[in-house]
Amino acid sequence: MNFVDLWLTRSLSMCLLLQSFVLMILCFHSASMCPKGCICSHTGGLNVSCSNANLKEIPKDIPPETVLLYLDSNQITSIPNEIFKDLHQLKVLNLSKNEIEFIDEHSFKGVAETLQTLDLSDNQIQRVHKNAFSKLKGRARIANNPWHCDCTLQQALRSMSSNHDTASNVICKTSVLDEHTGQALLTNTNDANFCKKTTDYAMLVTMFGWFTMVISYVVYYVRQNQEDARRHLEYLKSLPSRQKKPDEADDISTVV
Ligand SMILES: *[C@@H]1O[C@H](CO)[C@@H](O)[C@H](O)[C@H]1NC(C)=O
Ligand SMILES: *[C@@H]1O[C@H](CO)[C@@H](O)[C@H](O)[C@H]1NC(C)=O
Repeated sequence: MNFVDLWLTRSLSMCLLLQSFVLMILCFHSASMCPKGCICSHTGGLNVSCSNANLKEIPKDIPPETVLLYLDSNQITSIPNEIFKDLHQLKVLNLSKNEIEFIDEHSFKGVAETLQTLDLSDNQIQRVHKNAFSKLKGRARIANNPWHCDCTLQQALRSMSSNHDTASNVICKTSVLDEHTGQALLTNTNDANFCKKTTDYAMLVTMFGWFTMVISYVVYYVRQNQEDARRHLEYLKSLPSRQKKPDEADDISTVV
């Protein structure tokens, strides 16, 4: 009897232990599960391959230990801010052949420093935030996008650490400088400056401001003088009545 009791309690606790063990494994497994439609393999770090997976958006459950992430050839239209922020080991991010339209300031927050290769080629990108690439250390492919060349884009490309060959692949689909439409946007100092127009504009505004100030001062001065002249005239008119008593002054001077 006693033995059976002991055996029962033991097996019960064993059962519970086994159950929690299984649960733990399940939890652990789901934490690093492969996102739906992707293939995960270990080839020099976790390789998450979601190419050609009909994705409309970037999966939110990408394992944090991912080193290579292939999201190319899908229908992704945007990169939500900070979506990659937990992927601290990410080296390769391929977003080529999607429908991305805009790159925001925090699109690559958390991975910009570790990324060695970023592929954004063959998308629908026209514009980027001026700091979109500023933290990026690695190489970026951004060719084959319908770029709108303006000051912001030039600033964004100038802020990239390895921008030279990147910028030469940027062909302006549209441009604020008409002669650059259909041309490559280069960021050398002796190339077209897309930001110059705005400085000229700023200078014009400043000069106009000064000019207005000077003019208003002149107008004010002339008016004030007119007032003074009028007062002076009135004073002069009132003089003859005073001139009637010059003897008073003479008296004083003789006293002194
Ligand atoms: C990552 O996985 C994909 C799909 O399994 C494979 O085609 C690709 O070559 C892998 N990449 C590397 C760098 O091993
Ligand atoms: C990204 O994917 C595209 C399309 O599959 C491919 O042509 C390109 O070579 C890839 N880029 C990188 C850096 O692996």
